[in-house]
Amino acid sequence: MKQLKLTGFVIFWFFLTESLTLSTKPQDVDDVSITQKFIEENVGYITIIVFAQYIQEASFEEVEMLVKTMTEYRDKCLADTTLPECSKLANYVLLENICALEGLPQKHNFSHCCSKVDLEEKRLCFFHNKKADVGFLPPLPTLDPEEKCQTYKNNRESFLNNYIYEVSRRNPFVFAPTLLTVAARFEEITKTCCEEQDKANCFRTKAEPVIQYLKASSSFQKNVCGALIKFGLPVLESINVAILSQKFPKIEFKELISLLEDVSSKYDGCCEGDAVQCIRSRSKVMSHICLKQDSISSKIKECCEKKIPERGECIISSNKDDRPKDLSLREAKFTESENVCEERDANQTSFMAEFLYEYSRRHPELSTPELLRIAGVYDDLLKECCHTENPPDCYRHAEHKFNETTEKSLKIVQQECERSQNLGKDDLKYYYLIKLTKMAPQLSTEELTFLGKEMVTALTTCCTLSEEFACVDNLVDLVLGELCGINENRNINPGVDHCCKTNFAFRRPCFEGLEADKAYVPPATSQGLFTFHTDLCQAHDEELQRKKDRFLVNLVKLKPELPDEELQSLLTDFTNVVVKCCQEEGPEACFSEEGPKVAAKSQAA
Ligand SMILES: *[C@@H]1O[C@H](CO)[C@@H](O)[C@H](O)[C@H]1NC(C)=O
Ligand SMILES: *[C@@H]1O[C@H](CO)[C@@H](O)[C@H](O)[C@H]1NC(C)=O
Ligand SMILES: *[C@@H]1O[C@H](CO)[C@@H](O)[C@H](O)[C@H]1NC(C)=O
Repeated sequence: MKQLKLTGFVIFWFFLTESLTLSTKPQDVDDVSITQKFIEENVGYITIIVFAQYIQEASFEEVEMLVKTMTEYRDKCLADTTLPECSKLANYVLLENICALEGLPQKHNFSHCCSKVDLEEKRLCFFHNKKADVGFLPPLPTLDPEEKCQTYKNNRESFLNNYIYEVSRRNPFVFAPTLLTVAARFEEITKTCCEEQDKANCFRTKAEPVIQYLKASSSFQKNVCGALIKFGLPVLESINVAILSQKFPKIEFKELISLLEDVSSKYDGCCEGDAVQCIRSRSKVMSHICLKQDSISSKIKECCEKKIPERGECIISSNKDDRPKDLSLREAKFTESENVCEERDANQTSFMAEFLYEYSRRHPELSTPELLRIAGVYDDLLKECCHTENPPDCYRHAEHKFNETTEKSLKIVQQECERSQNLGKDDLKYYYLIKLTKMAPQLSTEELTFLGKEMVTALTTCCTLSEEFACVDNLVDLVLGELCGINENRNINPGVDHCCKTNFAFRRPCFEGLEADKAYVPPATSQGLFTFHTDLCQAHDEELQRKKDRFLVNLVKLKPELPDEELQSLLTDFTNVVVKCCQEEGPEACFSEEGPKVAAKSQAA
């Protein structure tokens, strides 16, 4: 956890002086004060995000109380910055005020965090209080569109506050700038749709891309933070080198390294949920990029004209820049030069970073994990070669090894995409539900069905795209990141733990080779799995599908040793029983006759 520390310089809520002295360029100064103003103006939203992400159980009324306190604090400090309480760290002030809310630490069970004196420990305690599995919260409330528009018109502030609150507590790891962007888009949609005749339809179609965007950002951010927490700064930096070099192939290595420092330090605050630090360091990265855009990318001009927080979100989702024309397809320096080992010995970190940079900017078609795998293969090869008598002879075949690695990964993706095309959505989902449940039967049924659906989404989104490989490999890796967890050591079972913790880049091949958990002991009784009721007849489409998914997962948990075909066949039996019995006059009698038959078949199998 060492890496989740404040990064050298201290940032105060309302003191600009320190940050100002750090920058000398006028545009930087502008950016710093614009960011400052943004933070001051958005104290309410920021407070809601931090509180609702840390204490997801808190009610909206409780959150509003804290907003009031923080707004007063801001006004007081803006009026007189010399007050002693105004020179405290933003996140500290927030946490102090959360702890000072009467009765709340006991009510929501976080007093142990409040009793920590050390600020760092306190932050970490709150961070560990975040729950990735939000099954304990009701689904996002859906208001009638007319009602929504009326509420917005009557009380814009409270309406938006409530929206940010509901979204934040259900997405406890999403970075604050992303949530603020989502909220801004939601307000635009509300404004537009409330003018329309068919409001419901307008909300539905316009909200969909925003929801997708939130989901994708959340998934990515969780994965990177999980990597930082499990593997530390070096892995975070490699991820960033690969991503930045692919996105900005024109950038020079020196420039990349200077950018990398800013980018990597951004994750400290963002991952841990320190919204103010996150907004500030994000803004610093984006100023850096926009200031030097001529030497970084030709694709971000429009983004750089936007304001916070859209500017950052826009740059992050912008397209990869074109490869410079004079960039050769191969970089001979790393495989053909005589003195590779000497250069590596001079500074291994920087040498490996440069290799990853050169390889990534030449290979926009590869996924992030694949680029890291290749860097891993190269590192292993040099470790071996630099000890031989004739190193150049040994590492001359490096490129061949890189190709081999990629071909292996390509093959896996091709198989996955073929399966996806052959099976169709439902059967594909059943395939992954069985596979995931056998692998990690300890997980909750909710989580397993969620992960299974995510796998299907990844494949149906990516297969047949021109960037099929990178798309599948990136997205499936995100699902595994979700499975491995973000802020906790999950201890699911030794096999899964091993794949989650051993090597970030090779997580996917590791899971690929993972078999059913042999040490798992299934429940002794069927726990009512084969006792069916008439509620199955009332359930329609989506709800019935959900019940089928749950039946299958629970069946695998009960009978993990059955082959996939038997499990699938029992699911078909279940579906047939539902169809048959629901057509009868007395479904209950039919169910009590048919249920035991399915149970008996599962026993015999
Ligand atoms: C409260 O938190 C403690 C410490 O995290 C935990 O051990 C305990 O089970 C929690 N109690 C409830 C009711 O959630
Ligand atoms: C190696 O290079 C990195 C990045 O350029 C630098 O931060 C680090 O201090 C260097 N290490 C040594 C031992 O020179
Ligand atoms: C590796 O693959 C690339 C692209 O497919 C190809 O151009 C190159 O010749 C291959 N190199 C070796 C050594 O197989």
